[in-house]
Amino acid sequence: MKKSILLAAGMLLVGLTMAHADATKDAWEANCRKCHGPDGKGDTKMGKKVEVRDYTDAKVQAEMKDEEMIKAIKEGVKDKAGKERMKGYAETYKDDQIKALVAYVRAFKK
Ligand code: HEC
Repeated sequence: MKKSILLAAGMLLVGLTMAHADATKDAWEANCRKCHGPDGKGDTKMGKKVEVRDYTDAKVQAEMKDEEMIKAIKEGVKDKAGKERMKGYAETYKDDQIKALVAYVRAFKK
């Protein structure tokens, strides 16, 4: 009896975590992929135009700080002249979704 409750609770947890990961993937596909690419390489038409970095590159990953990544996703990225390179998504995503997106970007590292 106890065992089956534990098992059911465990399965529910796994289900929830997977749903969460899927939501992050969906968000990436919908809003980020066109520049950063499906695999974070930025090897897309838009990505080349706005010159995104290759997030599979360990060196690039090492240069990025989690706080800056969160800030970039919230507020966007501008060039030195103040022109928008990436828009901010503070209105679109809650803090925990943004953290999940940061983890998603981190996972591109080869
Ligand atoms: C219009 C193109 C475009 C879209 C769409 C876009 N980005 Fe970006 N992003 C950029 C550019 C340009 C940079 C700056 C260069 C770089 O770091 O590759 C950047 C930088 C970043 C960075 C690195 C910030 C740092 O610490 O230097 C992260 C993380 C990021 N984007 C995540 C996302 C996520 C998540 C989405 C979708 C919600 C997204 N981007 C959508 C163009 C885009």
